[in-house]
Amino acid sequence: MSKILITAGPTYERIDPVRFIGNYSSGKMGFALAQSCAEAGHEVILISGPVQLQINHANIQRIDVESASQMYEVVMQHMPHCNGAILCAAVADFTPIVVSEKKMKREKENLVIELKPTQDIAAAVGKSKRDEQFLVGFALETNDEEQNALGKMQRKGFDFIVLNSLNDAQACFGYDTNKITILHKDGRKEEFPLKTKKEVAADIVAKLPLI
Ligand code: C5P
Repeated sequence: MSKILITAGPTYERIDPVRFIGNYSSGKMGFALAQSCAEAGHEVILISGPVQLQINHANIQRIDVESASQMYEVVMQHMPHCNGAILCAAVADFTPIVVSEKKMKREKENLVIELKPTQDIAAAVGKSKRDEQFLVGFALETNDEEQNALGKMQRKGFDFIVLNSLNDAQACFGYDTNKITILHKDGRKEEFPLKTKKEVAADIVAKLPLI
């Protein structure tokens, strides 16, 4: 049986005590993957950003985080003990340089919040992972989809990348359905029809080199 690390959901990057920068990721795809792996008898470490989802399976250890930097720490801590990872989370690419301790007040002037890049968790895992560990990533693209996804797979050291397009109705954020294309590092490309996220999860899990 394999031990699989899965990241899911968005991250929230704090601006002040009551505000954050987030994104529309629901976490549904990552949770469906965790459920599917667990039901197949594998052990799952599910590292989730803030989501409105529950999951209950003896094989799933859920660890909730809020920010990209927290997700990075927890992923790097657990990855050495896993057979592989599926990085499904929509991690923020930027985070505020300064987090205001007090709630920011309304002003007449424009407000400028300076952001710095977050750690790329996938790239860090890709660099530090052992050869026998598998790594799967996701890509959500609005344009030049396949070319961008291929570049990402190479840069981050993925074995394959799951591409979902914002151009497909009913796919992605919040929906219970998804339409994916899998691009493999050996150049193979597999296109799937629109399916429930549960079925999509089963298709992805079927591609993993599980033991
Ligand atoms: O570069 P982009 O964010 O589009 O890459 C998507 C892939 O990289 C996903 O698998 C996502 O979970 C992962 N990622 C990450 N850490 C980041 C940004 C993206 O793990 N900071």
